[in-house]
Parts: sequence; C-alpha cells; structure tokens
Amino acid sequence: MGFAKREKKYKSKYNMTGTLGWIGNLRMNMERYLYFLHRVTGIGLVLYLILHILVTSSRMYGEGAYEISHSIINNPIADIGLFFVMAGLIFHGVNGIRLILNEYGFLLGKPTKPVYPYRQVLKTRGPRYFILLMIIIGAILLLIVGYELLLVWVF
Ligand code: HEM
Repeated sequence: MGFAKREKKYKSKYNMTGTLGWIGNLRMNMERYLYFLHRVTGIGLVLYLILHILVTSSRMYGEGAYEISHSIINNPIADIGLFFVMAGLIFHGVNGIRLILNEYGFLLGKPTKPVYPYRQVLKTRGPRYFILLMIIIGAILLLIVGYELLLVWVF
C-alpha cells in the first residue's frame, strides 16, 4: 500500500474519532479508563478554577459583593458539588502521581525486546499494585473530605 493511501486509512480509522474517541477505545482496559477519567477530571478542575477565581475576585467590587457571592455558595447543595470537585482533584492528583512514576519507568521492571507476543508491562504486578494503592489512598482522602463537609452541615 502506498504511503498516501496508508496515511488516509490510518487517519480515518484512528485519528479522526474526535472527543467520542476518548470513550470509544476503552475496551475494558483499566489504564484506558483511568486515562479517560484523568482527562475528564483535568478539564473539570480547570472549569472549577475559573468559577473559583470569579467568586473570590468579587472582593474587587467591595466587601458587600464578596459577602453576596459567598452567600450564594454557602449551602449544602454547593458543598455536595464541592465534594465532587474534591473527588475529582483527589483522583487527578493520585492518578497523576501514578502516571508520573510510570512515565519515568518506575515499577515497570526491566525493558525487554519488543518480540511478539509482546509483554503487556502495565498488566504486570508492580503497576497493578500501584493502582490498588492509589485507590486505597484516594478513598481515605475522600473519607476525610466527606467527614469535614458533614461536620459543617450535619454534626
Ligand atoms: C494535584 C496535583 C496534580 C497532579 C499530580 C497532576 C498530574 C497530571 C499529569 C501527570 C498529567 C499528564 C497526564 C498524561 O501523561 O497524559 C496531567 C494532565 C492534566 N492536568 Fe493535572 N495534575 C494535578 C493538578 C491539576 C489541576 C489543579 C488542574 C486544573 C486546574 C489540572 C489539569 C490538567 C489537565 C487539563 C490535564 C490534561 C489532561 C489530558 O490531556 O488528558 N491538573 N495532570
């Protein structure tokens, strides 16, 4: 197959799936699910950051404006939203550390020659245990956040 034809086939099949391609390629693969969640939480955090800057910058327009903007978000529904933001932040942070360690080659074992059948290094014990550890640390952090928010509204 000529280069131009191969290029066209490659593009149409794999490179032009757009945003739907994020979820179109999950195939029951743990790393792909984590990658998808990392991207979604990353975008969610950017959106939250914009909202956060808008609320806090209301102080520029005086103490009254600051009080009003905070009275809008000072309710249990907004704090349920904050819980989900924190869940996204915890996931993104802990998974980010896992990605950084993986990308530097930690826990991946010695490299082997790329001979078929290929060794699926992310399915070996080290990376899998690290995902488990990440879930445990994330769950503990989320419990602490949930408890702190319950302290405000329930206890
Ligand atoms: C808590 C500390 C954080 C850590 C350790 C972290 C780590 C990372 C890493 C390693 C990546 C690259 C993932 C890859 O290799 O593809 C990444 C991507 C990204 N992060 Fe973070 N991050 C953190 C906080 C944040 C915050 C606070 C925001 C938003 C305000 C954010 C927004 C993003 C976005 C939008 C991407 C790109 C996602 C993509 O293209 O798939 N991150 N982060």
